[in-house]
Amino acid sequence: MLVHVLISFAAFAAYVSGYVVNNGTECYLYPESLTHFGQPVDDTPSVVQAFELCGTNGTIIFTNHTFHMNQVINTTNLVNCDVEIQGELLWSTNIPYWLSHSINVGLQNQSTAWLFGGTNVSMTGGGSFNGNGQAWYTQNRNNSNEPGRPISITFFNSTNLYVDNISIIQPQFWATFVTYSANVTMTNIYVNATSNDEWGTANTDGSDTWNSRDIYMANWTVQNGDDCIAAKGNTTNLHVKNVTCHGGAGMTVGSVGQYPTMPDYDEDILFEDVRVINSFDGGYIKTWQGVYQSATGNGDGGGGGSGIIRNVTFRNFEVTNVALPIQISQCIYSEKLGADTCDTSKMNISDVTFENFTGTSRYNIAASLHCADVHHCPGIYFKNVNITSVNATLGLPLFNTTLQSEVFQCANVVNQNTTSGIPCNHWAPDNYGQAPSTNVQ
Ligand SMILES: *[C@@H]1O[C@H](CO)[C@@H](O)[C@H](O)[C@H]1NC(C)=O
Ligand SMILES: *[C@@H]1O[C@H](CO)[C@@H](O)[C@H](O)[C@H]1NC(C)=O
Ligand SMILES: *[C@@H]1O[C@H](CO)[C@@H](O)[C@H](O)[C@H]1NC(C)=O
Ligand SMILES: *[C@@H]1O[C@H](CO)[C@@H](O)[C@H](O)[C@H]1NC(C)=O
Ligand SMILES: *[C@@H]1O[C@H](CO)[C@@H](O)[C@H](O)[C@H]1NC(C)=O
Ligand SMILES: *[C@@H]1O[C@H](CO)[C@@H](O)[C@H](O)[C@H]1NC(C)=O
Ligand SMILES: *[C@@H]1O[C@H](CO)[C@@H](O)[C@H](O)[C@H]1NC(C)=O
Ligand SMILES: *[C@@H]1O[C@H](CO)[C@@H](O)[C@H](O)[C@H]1NC(C)=O
Ligand SMILES: *[C@@H]1O[C@H](CO)[C@@H](O)[C@H](O)[C@H]1NC(C)=O
Ligand SMILES: *[C@@H]1O[C@H](CO)[C@@H](O)[C@H](O)[C@H]1NC(C)=O
Ligand SMILES: *[C@@H]1O[C@H](CO)[C@@H](O)[C@H](O)[C@H]1NC(C)=O
Ligand SMILES: *[C@@H]1O[C@H](CO)[C@@H](O)[C@H](O)[C@H]1NC(C)=O
Repeated sequence: MLVHVLISFAAFAAYVSGYVVNNGTECYLYPESLTHFGQPVDDTPSVVQAFELCGTNGTIIFTNHTFHMNQVINTTNLVNCDVEIQGELLWSTNIPYWLSHSINVGLQNQSTAWLFGGTNVSMTGGGSFNGNGQAWYTQNRNNSNEPGRPISITFFNSTNLYVDNISIIQPQFWATFVTYSANVTMTNIYVNATSNDEWGTANTDGSDTWNSRDIYMANWTVQNGDDCIAAKGNTTNLHVKNVTCHGGAGMTVGSVGQYPTMPDYDEDILFEDVRVINSFDGGYIKTWQGVYQSATGNGDGGGGGSGIIRNVTFRNFEVTNVALPIQISQCIYSEKLGADTCDTSKMNISDVTFENFTGTSRYNIAASLHCADVHHCPGIYFKNVNITSVNATLGLPLFNTTLQSEVFQCANVVNQNTTSGIPCNHWAPDNYGQAPSTNVQ
């Protein structure tokens, strides 16, 4: 960690170029608002200039002020660059601007406000991103994916990337996305997307990884309305440790299998020491069905993709009031379409362990595991899974059901009734949703 002498802006007036103070290899950024009577003048031109001056063998310091981020930025191909964020980066709410300018990231027609990356790069400093997300949550009206609604920051084409001690509050869409990168460490990260009106915070994932390998994420706290951390396609060797997830949808592998022309390989993934509180899901794997369908109603349908999910471990999970603590679904967006969609998936799932899961389920169900009839899942194990419904822990009956003991429903899991360790006591229907809202009947 660098030690900085607090310098007065005036002292460097002679060296000021925009509001970048550049003394050799260090670029200090100051916001335009300081000399514009506090007006929210766009700081992105200065930010781009700082990266041009100090993006190779340099250090960029966002001083402890609020920076107005009114335009997309692309700071890629950095080399040996340390970025220190002390202040707050505040994104504008000019929704028509972002819908037509956000930078496409190549997955699900999604896009980003900041494309960032390079080799031997760090981002640290204890500062925060403020996506001003309420404007996005309100206009999105729970409609989920929306082309142009930007991911706060996308770490792209990066090798040896270290991100530490950063907060992302009110992200516009996903808080972070890691793509085409290797050897990425992201530690001590705080994400909080909370809506103050009747519309939810759909798609405010803490992080998604895609086409990336060798990733370590530790010491995260996430409050949001969607996946806490999700391993999307072609994630290899992801290790997630010590994360608390509030609300949202827990730890996820997927969704994968969306594109018939792009197989997904997700291998060697470990989630450990995780607390999941008041969420839809705890630890789950979600693949698309085997037949292409436009199922989601917002133009980003899919399915029919092939590939592999192998060697995934979810261990030391404490779940509290989670709707579906453990799930494998192979038709995640088409459960309601029927016609055996869950039984057609071309994604092969194997070697998945759920170990040391304790706590409470919101309903009478702890686990729903439905593997595709065409690809039964081998190597699925439960070890020390002990989940009780909230009502049962309170000595209260479960409503509208004769099933008063915890349900573990299974279908097409190899050895489900013998060596798997799963106490299967119910058939997992092929149309069981990812977020139940009632007890199993
Ligand atoms: C740039 O300024 C900072 C803060 O005063 C100082 O710590 C650093 O040594 C300076 N670097 C150079 C190359 O002069
Ligand atoms: C950056 O530093 C490396 C050595 O660490 C050097 O080889 C390279 O030329 C430097 N690049 C620039 C643009 O200064
Ligand atoms: C981002 O900037 C790099 C130059 O550093 C350029 O090659 C690339 O095309 C830009 N990407 C986008 C999506 O604008
Ligand atoms: C920025 O300044 C505020 C006080 O204005 C302080 O609370 C905060 O810790 C500072 N942040 C950093 C990263 O130094
Ligand atoms: C990815 O980074 C490498 C340097 O590691 C660079 O040569 C290449 O041009 C970058 N690719 C893109 C698409 O930016
Ligand atoms: C991985 O990145 C870290 C920086 O986060 C660096 O210290 C380490 O040397 C890199 N590992 C390899 C194998 O390059
Ligand atoms: C998230 O932010 C909301 C609103 O500011 C706050 O009530 C809540 O405690 C925060 N959650 C966490 C986990 O810090
Ligand atoms: C996680 O946080 C604890 C407590 O602050 C700290 O001791 C530990 O070094 C952190 N781990 C990482 C990987 O940053
Ligand atoms: C886990 O991470 C939290 C921050 O989210 C930190 O406060 C805590 O000390 C960490 N625990 C360990 C055992 O590192
Ligand atoms: C995953 O990687 C393979 C190559 O290993 C590639 O063919 C495929 O298109 C990638 N899938 C996605 C979704 O990017
Ligand atoms: C499974 O993945 C873990 C990382 O989570 C790795 O350490 C282990 O070697 C992998 N095992 C196999 C058999 O691939
Ligand atoms: C099981 O997980 C809990 C956290 O939920 C942890 O405190 C405990 O140490 C774990 N047990 C083992 C044997 O690892």
